[in-house]
Amino acid sequence: MTVPFGAIPLKTPFILAPMAGCTDLPFRLLCREHGAGLCYSEMIDCHGLVAQEHECLELLRTNSAEHPVAMQLYGSDPSVMGEAAAILSEHSIACIDINLGCPMEKVVQKGAGAALMKNPRLAEKIITSVCKNSTKPVTVKIRSGWNQHTITAPEIAKIAEGAGAQAIAIHARTWSDGFTGPIDHGVILQVMKNVAIPIFANGDITSHEQGQALLKKIGCAGVMIGRAALGAPWIFSGAVNQHPSMAYRLKALLRHLELAEIHLAPEPSLSKIRNHAWKYFRGTATGPAIRKQIDATTTYPELRTFIHSLAEQVSRR
Ligand SMILES: Cc1cc2nc3c(=O)[nH]c(=O)nc-3n(C[C@H](O)[C@H](O)[C@H](O)COP(=O)(O)O)c2cc1C
Repeated sequence: MTVPFGAIPLKTPFILAPMAGCTDLPFRLLCREHGAGLCYSEMIDCHGLVAQEHECLELLRTNSAEHPVAMQLYGSDPSVMGEAAAILSEHSIACIDINLGCPMEKVVQKGAGAALMKNPRLAEKIITSVCKNSTKPVTVKIRSGWNQHTITAPEIAKIAEGAGAQAIAIHARTWSDGFTGPIDHGVILQVMKNVAIPIFANGDITSHEQGQALLKKIGCAGVMIGRAALGAPWIFSGAVNQHPSMAYRLKALLRHLELAEIHLAPEPSLSKIRNHAWKYFRGTATGPAIRKQIDATTTYPELRTFIHSLAEQVSRR
């Protein structure tokens, strides 16, 4: 099955959501290996990118094996967002995404992220500038609105389409909902009615089956998965159920470590890798004890040795 989306046919409609601190190159590669049709990077500050800050340049790391990959920009200055889009266009990526959903105080305070859901005029300027300056297709990731009294997703989606965006991902919650509370599929349907471009539904999809059911129920072009993919990249393939064996979990984690060793400096990234490792034991009986031992590791080689010895123990059983 391919999903028509601009010039990029996606092999599957299952998409990895952008997650700051999580969707780095190793994790994206892993999700790709498990069948994700498109993976989104962590959000990148347009000012930092234009100023060539080391931290931002690090986020641009990609690799032909992970294609197609989308890189996400955030900011509230249309001209700087345009400059950043021109820089991103030079990179080997499939598309550029614009963040209209981040609820973090430091982002919203500057008028970026979810704050743009209550400022359609500025959102239009930003999307227009990014589309004008990009040689890649542009996608936009939105929320339902600012709060329950300001549901602007259908309006912003229309604006985004008019400004040249080629797909829209919608996290069907408002800024004031944060990351909890029910997902409003009705808003996703309204957005789908309002525009002709592909819509990716996002929010609380916790299994492959649930993703399939949502695709069927509302007929969106794709489903975007965030938190449920952490420590469970197999969610994209549907090849295993939600509760795979310990051996299967460890195999995936070992591959994750291998990719981190190839593509990251594992020692400085220890706390991030430990965070990922923790999540592989969600819902398992031995998870709490394993997590304690993960927390007790103080170097990357210690963590690696612990996970390898765990895998050996499990394979001997
Ligand atoms: C740790 C974390 C980091 C996130 N970072 C980003 C980000 O950089 N850009 C963005 O658009 N959304 C970000 N999000 C939101 C997710 O992309 C997604 O919209 C949200 O988690 C809802 O989907 P889910 O229920 O599948 O997790 C982040 C979410 C989490 C939990």
